Amino acid sequence: MTFDKMRENLKLTLSRERFRHSEEVMNEALRLAEFYKVNIEKARIAGLLHDCARDAGKDEIYKVFEKYNVVLDDIQKKTPVLLHSILGSFYAREYYGVEDKEILDAIYWHTTGRAGMTMLEKIIFVADYIESGRNFEGVEEARKQAYKDIERCIVICCDLTIRYILQKGKLLHPYIIETRNEAITQIEAKKLNLAQTE
Ligand SMILES: [Fe+2]
Ligand SMILES: [Fe+2]
Repeated sequence: MTFDKMRENLKLTLSRERFRHSEEVMNEALRLAEFYKVNIEKARIAGLLHDCARDAGKDEIYKVFEKYNVVLDDIQKKTPVLLHSILGSFYAREYYGVEDKEILDAIYWHTTGRAGMTMLEKIIFVADYIESGRNFEGVEEARKQAYKDIERCIVICCDLTIRYILQKGKLLHPYIIETRNEAITQIEAKKLNLAQTE
């Protein structure tokens, strides 16, 4: 499927605001991909499609999961927002003809992140937070760090989500904690490396 066709199809399935968000995540992902020397085409498609299943209904979600034998953990079952990224990776393949595993994984992990993310996964995770329409407190610092030290940007994004979840008294998925722990570990390792070479 051509990129223009993907864009056209996506526009038909998402609300106007979600489509705007998707395009802005794509634009940010393109800039980050260029900066970190990641495949531009993969970043473009993953950015555009990351929320392609965001407006799917509950019945549809479970139908697809059943078809592909997706096993959810207890927290995922109780936290519907975590499901759109998993579903999105199946939608991208089924409805947009995406076969590339790196793109599908970047969509799959964009909500929580994971320990051991690829650079493309990091880029989509971060772009989702810092796209130009976002205006949460600290977004400017997150944007700055995205192009300076992406791990620091990941920590800011995780902190924001974790704080929000705590405030709301909702369930916190361990993946996001693992994402944050790994980013901090990498920041510390870099510091140590620098100190040793000085
Ligand atoms: Fe999303
Ligand atoms: Fe998003």
